[in-house]
Amino acid sequence: MLQIKNLSTSYFQGGATVPAVRDVSMTIEKGRATALVGESGSGKSTVALSVMRMIRPPIGDIVDGEIHVNGRDVTRMSEKQMRSVLRSEIGLVPQDPTTALDPLFTIRSQIVEAMPHTDKGDRDDVIVRLLESLGIVNARDRLNEHPHQFSGGMRQRVAMAIALAKQPSVLIADEPTTALDVTTQIGILRLLDQLRKERDLATLFITHDVRVARLLCQSVVVMYAGVVVESGPTGTVFSNPHHPYTRALLEATSLDVGPRRKLLAIPGSPPSLASLPAGCPFAPRCPSAIDRCRAEMPPTVQAKHGSSFACWSPVVAA
Ligand SMILES: Nc1ncnc2c1ncn2[C@@H]1O[C@H](COP(=O)(O)OP(=O)(O)O)[C@@H](O)[C@H]1O
Ligand SMILES: [Mg+2]
Repeated sequence: MLQIKNLSTSYFQGGATVPAVRDVSMTIEKGRATALVGESGSGKSTVALSVMRMIRPPIGDIVDGEIHVNGRDVTRMSEKQMRSVLRSEIGLVPQDPTTALDPLFTIRSQIVEAMPHTDKGDRDDVIVRLLESLGIVNARDRLNEHPHQFSGGMRQRVAMAIALAKQPSVLIADEPTTALDVTTQIGILRLLDQLRKERDLATLFITHDVRVARLLCQSVVVMYAGVVVESGPTGTVFSNPHHPYTRALLEATSLDVGPRRKLLAIPGSPPSLASLPAGCPFAPRCPSAIDRCRAEMPPTVQAKHGSSFACWSPVVAA
């Protein structure tokens, strides 16, 4: 289980502090998937990197909050304890498998590294079973091959094998299909869904695509400029969005629009994190902003059916 409580993470850049993530909370139970959605730059990867404690000085730091992985707060761990959590409890499916795999080593040696406790004599059998369960045929004949001998989709399956070889309980997938072509994407998405169920994985699924979020995740957290603007059960949030940003995201991807309504891009661009406006960060782009939105940050309020949102001027009242 993964529980993030009031996480704030900043980058330190040329003497300035860039608040990339502010007061983000979510809980992902075993066997459940939460989608983290939002435009590029909204802080999604920063949340994932924070969970893995991969943002450290001088680049940046977790400045507030707690992150519990199976009940233990990783923000308080020593580097040694954290290495052990990364080795055994958290699997990462990368955005681009090409950069995640080492071109110089065979796929066998890269997967073996993730399973140091398996007996030498059993390793090949375990790896072959794992690769075949991930859709790589004739895996035994391919153990000595190098990453470049696999297609993009197959490389992502190898990267998934590395993530799963340690038998993690938490899986983080950061835009796992953006580097792949469309037909390959669907296979990888189905596989991730199947693995979550079979292995009871608490899955944090990062995507800018709300259709993928709706298809694969039970809950969704919508981020904008580092803050959570709306969250809750996927069906509730997407069929009854309260926050104008959630609504705009849905319209931008045509999810809830009929065949005759045209795609609406969201006009404008996110604010610079180095000089955030007072009040709601979406206010400068928001079609329903009122004076209060530009002056005061809205608190998060509970809505019906388990969702919550932070907005002074919601599309639909709580
Ligand atoms: N190493 C870094 N130094 C300074 N700012 C960074 C760094 N990495 C990311 N950022 C900034 O943090 C914000 C959030 O980035 P990120 O978490 O990658 O967003 P997302 O994954 O949603 O696209 C962006 O404004 C980005 O420019
Ligand atoms: Mg990202």
